Amino acid sequence: MKKLVVGNLKMNLINLAERERYFKLLEKELSGKDFSNTEVVLCPPYVHLESFKKWKNKKIKLGAQNMFAETKGSYTGEISPTMLKAFGCEYVILGHSERRRYFSEKNEEISLKVASALKNGLIPVICVGETKVQREEHRVLDVITEQVAKALVNVSRTKAGGIVIAYEPVWAVGSDVTPTTHEIMEAKVLIRKILVALFGKKYAEKVRILYGGSVKAVIAKEICVDPGMDGVLVGRESLMPHEFLKIVAIIDKK
Ligand code: PGA
Repeated sequence: MKKLVVGNLKMNLINLAERERYFKLLEKELSGKDFSNTEVVLCPPYVHLESFKKWKNKKIKLGAQNMFAETKGSYTGEISPTMLKAFGCEYVILGHSERRRYFSEKNEEISLKVASALKNGLIPVICVGETKVQREEHRVLDVITEQVAKALVNVSRTKAGGIVIAYEPVWAVGSDVTPTTHEIMEAKVLIRKILVALFGKKYAEKVRILYGGSVKAVIAKEICVDPGMDGVLVGRESLMPHEFLKIVAIIDKK
């Protein structure tokens, strides 16, 4: 199974000049590099999907940061999985903690999106993770169990190979604080157990489990390689192609 590095560009590259500069830097950094063990995915804002598709360097796959569960119709302001497919996306991030926090996304809504993504041929990267308070109250197990189980309630085990879970503790996102190698390993073991309970061992093992939250090249070994993660979800550092590809190189080599 290949490793996976997903870059979440969030609400950045705010004009054409910024986008063109980003492409130039990325092109330069990619030249001569080959990542044979790792899939690399970038998730730009929707408005840039078409240009990323046109630009798309074969070494980078395309993903979106969110989607609506319906495929078309009167849903003002929303983007559907069929649209994402048409504009070259293979992946879609779902249930990111910023969506849960600022847009009140709940597990039930996320589960509809997960099912719809799979039905429409997209690979959902489902984000789960506890807040600081939940960790302090020793509720990590309950929170993650609920988030994973509810997100996957409409997923049959034969589809398990087509999903990705990203363990992203909310307190580690955008904070420069990260869990220890041991804490990440514990979360991975917990998520794998939940998956085994849902799908059985054979299918549960097909699910890739990533770490996300303040990922940087200098700590890529201790937060990804050492705890045996299948890859990472990268926020801020994905805006700097040089740093982003350093992370990819470390994970690809391991
Ligand atoms: P960060 O974001 O790397 O900037 O902490 C991670 C994420 O939100 O996926």
